[in-house]
Amino acid sequence: MAHCATLIPGDGIGQEVTRAAQRVLDASGVRIEWETADAGGEHISRYGTPLPQQTIDAVMRNRVALKGPIGTPIGTGFRSVNVELRKSLDLFANYRPARSLEGVPTRYENVDLMVIRENSEGLYSGLEHIVVPGVIESQRIITEKASQRILRYAFETARRHGRRKVTAVHKANILKLSDGLFLEVARRVAREYPGVEYEESIVDATAMRLVLDPSAFDVLVMENLFGDIISDLTSGLIGGLGLAPSANIGDQYAVFEAVHGSAPDIAGRGIANPTALILSGALMLDHLGESAAARRVERAVRAVIAQGAIVTRDLGGSASTEEFTEAVIAALESNHE
Ligand code: NAI
Repeated sequence: MAHCATLIPGDGIGQEVTRAAQRVLDASGVRIEWETADAGGEHISRYGTPLPQQTIDAVMRNRVALKGPIGTPIGTGFRSVNVELRKSLDLFANYRPARSLEGVPTRYENVDLMVIRENSEGLYSGLEHIVVPGVIESQRIITEKASQRILRYAFETARRHGRRKVTAVHKANILKLSDGLFLEVARRVAREYPGVEYEESIVDATAMRLVLDPSAFDVLVMENLFGDIISDLTSGLIGGLGLAPSANIGDQYAVFEAVHGSAPDIAGRGIANPTALILSGALMLDHLGESAAARRVERAVRAVIAQGAIVTRDLGGSASTEEFTEAVIAALESNHE
């Protein structure tokens, strides 16, 4: 049976990396019927909005989407399409695994972390206003309901993947009420999972401890902005943004995208590393119940990178996006289970 999935190419390097990921998934042996949908600033003149309702409807119809990055103007202009899409589809959890890849020179080997970022509130509630000229207030919303579902998701993920520990990352020493609530919920949920160790770590100390010894952590769960920053740090630990996949998960829908943005500095040159989006595609296959194919895709990507002859510039090579993609497809085809 074929699966249906929405493909949102996005902008910047989006077209290049989504095309690569689509080709690899199509070569995985899983049949996917793709429905392409528009989103991003370049579509405003056509739809009057960077996130057309048709695109949201397409994800709702197919339930899953593979999405390229979409740029957001800084300081002014339209609100982030990425944030709006997560809100419209109630994609409350952002799952960002960071696992070392053989052949990528980094400070640490065997990094294996899962960052779980609350995706629906915190400082991304978009509630900002001018109190008086020269004074701006931004509201950081933390609710018991959203905290509970992200913490449950974190513990469930830990249990499903056989992980040993969940760390709740917070700033409750300063944000006593909001992060105090987050921790209170965390402790309550932790009691429901006696088989998983639970610890708490202040966000600034977490950043330092991750850099000194990533093996001190396993699954880390936190509110939106902390998750945004800490997951870029963990991406750095495994070799950079070009390698880090992610999944935005809700009760009904899921959108899979790289951690990186639209990389306007290298867009249109055919040199972007599609690894992060291909690995996001593998997460999508897993979500669709195609876990054997997901493993094959991940193994093929890892084999090509470990071999080192055909890798993109960010990894010290000279291969184009397309050459790397061809190499992954060749590895996939010679490696059926
Ligand atoms: P970025 O992730 O696009 O780029 C940061 C650096 O990493 C750049 O030097 C870029 O060339 C490099 N890089 C990123 N992805 C790469 C890849 N696949 N291969 C090789 N090198 C790669 O972050 P930046 O520059 O802060 O943001 C650019 C735009 O992307 C902004 O408009 C931002 O709002 C948007 N963005 C969108 C996201 C999404 O769609 N989910 C996530 C993050 C940012």
